[in-house]
Amino acid sequence: MSKEIKTIGVLTSGGDAPGMNAAIRAVVRKAISNGVKVKGIKKGYLGLLNEEIVDMERKSVSDIIQTGGTILGTARCLEFKEPEVQARGAEICRKHGIDGLVVIGGDGSYRGAQALARNGINTVGIPGTIDLDIACTEYTIGFDTAINTAMEAIDKVRDTSSSHERCSIIEVMGRDAGYIALWTGVANGAEDILLPEKYDYNEQAIINNIIENRKRGKTHHIIINAEGIGHSTSMAKRIEAATGIETRATILGYLQRGGHPTCKDRFYASIMGAYAADILCQGKSNRVVAYTHGEFVDFDIEEALSMKKYINEYQYEIGKRLSQ
Ligand code: ADP
Ligand code: F6P
Repeated sequence: MSKEIKTIGVLTSGGDAPGMNAAIRAVVRKAISNGVKVKGIKKGYLGLLNEEIVDMERKSVSDIIQTGGTILGTARCLEFKEPEVQARGAEICRKHGIDGLVVIGGDGSYRGAQALARNGINTVGIPGTIDLDIACTEYTIGFDTAINTAMEAIDKVRDTSSSHERCSIIEVMGRDAGYIALWTGVANGAEDILLPEKYDYNEQAIINNIIENRKRGKTHHIIINAEGIGHSTSMAKRIEAATGIETRATILGYLQRGGHPTCKDRFYASIMGAYAADILCQGKSNRVVAYTHGEFVDFDIEEALSMKKYINEYQYEIGKRLSQ
């Protein structure tokens, strides 16, 4: 028989993402409407270990649906990978009367949730990352805002790039995952899109492409480079030396992680937050909320973490073809 849930906790972990606040709001308000108390845990697993735990009411989440960042704060807490530290985390949950926990974050945060579940705390994860790199779900909270922010910035760089007939390398976030690069590359009509999953380090092919495009009369050449490949500034210098075309690097950086969440991020965050609160209140544990084939669903964390996600070949090829 599943244990009765009286109080749940909620935390955000890993890199922040626009829409996390909308998810926190949904968790808090849905749990309260289910008759369950809610506690907010600050700064992810670090705040749990430091017992930075506050009571949350409906009003605690007023006026946050539209804001970027996370009102709870977030952290990367490497010591939470240690089994004895995880057991201490579960003990702290019990001490504060927390029977279940919603963890908003990425794959790494799910592993922490899985560890707490092993230690007797019911847990449910919600996909919160701008990277879209969680295999079990077609959507992660923050991705839509990040790509729209990046897209608008790239449009601006393109204007000046065309005016000066320059080549521009624009670096977008994604250490291991190229989804932001792929989506903005296609949406901004980039001439080259470099993804960590795909790039073969054949810089000569890029140089040839720039020269060919210039011969065809293109006034700009936009290269979207993912953070995981990096080295945009030195790449720009080499490309300029090889092509004779002025080449500049722009690193978009953290502006992609902030700002008001888009409607899409607020909507997904609200539904996923409410869904997580509901299944936790029903006594489910070791689950993650996901969006697949037009439905909100949940998976076992183990199963979710064993899934693999790949860059779609067709989309990648199309991205290259359309800008020729
Ligand atoms: P994300 O959740 O976005 O993937 P990280 O990989 O940085 O981001 O993970 C966020 C946090 O989750 C880590 O700082 C750590 O506290 C926790 N975490 C990551 N990996 C594990 C693990 N293997 N076991 C327990 N906790 C983990
Ligand atoms: O996971 C989100 C993300 O912004 C990645 O795109 C990026 O590689 C990473 O976080 C950067 O993390 P940090 O701010 O901890 O260096």
